[in-house]
Amino acid sequence: MTSTDKNQQFTFENSETLRQIMNARRDVRGNRFLPTPIHQEELDKIYAAALSAPSVGFSQPWEFITITDRAVRQTIADSFSTENDKASIMFDAQKSQQYQSLKLEGILQSPLNIAVFYNPKKGPVLGQTSMPEMGRYSVVCAVQNMWLMARSLNIGIGWVSIVNPEHVKTALYAPQDRELIAYLCVGYVDKFYDKPELETLNWEARKQAQQVILNGSY
Ligand SMILES: Cc1cc2nc3c(=O)[nH]c(=O)nc-3n(C[C@H](O)[C@H](O)[C@H](O)COP(=O)(O)O)c2cc1C
Repeated sequence: MTSTDKNQQFTFENSETLRQIMNARRDVRGNRFLPTPIHQEELDKIYAAALSAPSVGFSQPWEFITITDRAVRQTIADSFSTENDKASIMFDAQKSQQYQSLKLEGILQSPLNIAVFYNPKKGPVLGQTSMPEMGRYSVVCAVQNMWLMARSLNIGIGWVSIVNPEHVKTALYAPQDRELIAYLCVGYVDKFYDKPELETLNWEARKQAQQVILNGSY
């Protein structure tokens, strides 16, 4: 499609490109990040992708903090270590041993981190009155847009959820009513794996369509 197309029809090739980007998107951890700083124009594109995401009632309840400062990232890496130690003993003995061998973040190895917050609107939001969590889900839509745009620019993103959200908020001086939704590690990579690492390591298997798309009509 070109920008002069009036009715926004995409070609088969466009659709194939999107499919390829979705299939090639990976969660990137510290072992693959390069320290090279991200070009500002590319970061702008990743943020523009976030801001074009769908949101309940067009509430756009997202906020972002870009973090490059090493001392701040070290504080968050420390929170990861504490939470990760707690997590490893929640699994059975065999899984626990495997868990401890996994690399599950790239907070210091990536040159840039992004904290993504939910900024709840005061008062009712169209579409969110019966299901309050819809605001948070809207923020997740923004994260997915960022992840895909980054991949199309050959930039890796890793989502780190093994942190204490209150410690992250304190480290970033985030307002009390904000809620941490995602902590992202962002950077160029030496390579993208062709499969999820957790699949390669037999932690979980890829589900097949027939397992999750239930047949039957109602
Ligand atoms: C909500 C969410 C939280 C995640 N948190 C972590 C995390 O803390 N550490 C980690 O290594 N990966 C994390 N991931 C990445 C998943 O492990 C990864 O998406 C999954 O293994 C599939 O791999 P892929 O993203 O490369 O396809 C998270 C992903 C999502 C969607």
